[in-house]
Amino acid sequence: MKIVYWSGSGNTERMAELIKKGIISSGQTVETSLVSEVNVDDLLKDEILVLGCPAMGDEVLEESEFEPFIEEIASKVSGKKVALFGSYGWGDGQWMRDFEERMISYGCTIISEPLIIQYAPDGSENECIDFGKQITSA
Ligand SMILES: Cc1cc2nc3c(=O)[nH]c(=O)nc-3n(C[C@H](O)[C@H](O)[C@H](O)COP(=O)(O)O)c2cc1C
Repeated sequence: MKIVYWSGSGNTERMAELIKKGIISSGQTVETSLVSEVNVDDLLKDEILVLGCPAMGDEVLEESEFEPFIEEIASKVSGKKVALFGSYGWGDGQWMRDFEERMISYGCTIISEPLIIQYAPDGSENECIDFGKQITSA
């Protein structure tokens, strides 16, 4: 399994590491990968995609790396199981509702409620770890 993410100030990256911990504790293997470094052909061999991006711009995905990645995979992910996560700041989570709706429109099934954490996951470590565990039981 792979966790693919973008993170500007490290909060989504910390979430990715905690989710990884949860996946590993369930006995599965997982790698984290920056979206800028992911091999898309390789990634698309997996049945489950774990994707993380914070709220950026005005309630959108990060526009220079993550948004182009989503556009690239859009027509190739029908039938995949997808788990979404990301950090946000002052908004109400609209970016993630849009992200979820978008992945569903591409034919994906969402595994459990997307995980959103305001700023750093301090105090929410277990929530992230549990999210990782849920992914493995999907
Ligand atoms: C350029 C920029 C735009 C942002 N836009 C939003 C936004 O629209 N809504 C929101 O809730 N937070 C917004 N934020 C706050 C980030 O989502 C928040 O700081 C998050 O923790 C960043 O995650 P990261 O550390 O993984 O980059 C924005 C932050 C930056 C730097």
